[in-house]
Amino acid sequence: MRFLPLFMGFTLTVLAAPSPPFFRATSLNGKPLAIIPIGDSITFGAGDPSGNGYRGPLYDLLTKAHAKATFLGDQVNGNFSQPHHQGYPGASTTMIADAVAKIYDSMDPDLVLLHVGVTDAAVAAGTQEPAPIACLGEVEKLIDRVSEFWPRATVLVARIIPVDTAWTDIDGAVETQWNVDRINERISSVVAQRAYFGRRIMLVDMSHGQITAADLTDFAHPGPAGYAKMAGLWFTGIQDVVAKGWVSEP
Ligand SMILES: *[C@@H]1O[C@H](CO)[C@@H](O)[C@H](O)[C@H]1NC(C)=O
Repeated sequence: MRFLPLFMGFTLTVLAAPSPPFFRATSLNGKPLAIIPIGDSITFGAGDPSGNGYRGPLYDLLTKAHAKATFLGDQVNGNFSQPHHQGYPGASTTMIADAVAKIYDSMDPDLVLLHVGVTDAAVAAGTQEPAPIACLGEVEKLIDRVSEFWPRATVLVARIIPVDTAWTDIDGAVETQWNVDRINERISSVVAQRAYFGRRIMLVDMSHGQITAADLTDFAHPGPAGYAKMAGLWFTGIQDVVAKGWVSEP
């Protein structure tokens, strides 16, 4: 008798329709995923000859997992089938927020991928200005605004990738990394707090150790292999939030 429930469970599994609701809710298999990648030149894909950046390899990973992924945004870069995004080369977080505010109501994403702060970190280092750098509040504000723009969406926020401090000809290379570290501290605390209060938001750590200077092709941009590593980290984050049942059907 003790084994009967298990046995019945097994029978049910075998006889059930291919996609029972509990399975659809927590697996990428067959799942429609409308994704908005938001950020600066790293989201655009600078440093990658194809222009696909992390978005191309992420699309491949999602497709191999049989998700029905689409990328949204009014910017286009790359030579794969889903080249849309909201990545603005050279844009501060304030400029990114303003650009997204202009078009947000034309899109209904399931997922938002946010990688912002590197441009602010570099600009602040170049003009320096000691800490605290002004953009910390802007990064925090944008994290909140994307949840306001798209209340249905789950938000993945990257702890941002490092720069290569060996580029001594860059004005303020070491200071830029110091700023990146401060931005990541703020991102970690903001995301932890918003998640604690019940928002569907999660950190994806791409900071030093996950992505390293060796993954970069210049001062701040990954090459194709580095972007593939970023894609793998986003993919793991997407698997995690889908497994939590956070990603709802429209
Ligand atoms: C995309 O661009 C890269 C780099 O220029 C090139 O190697 C690749 O063949 C292109 N792929 C397609 C599908 O056009």
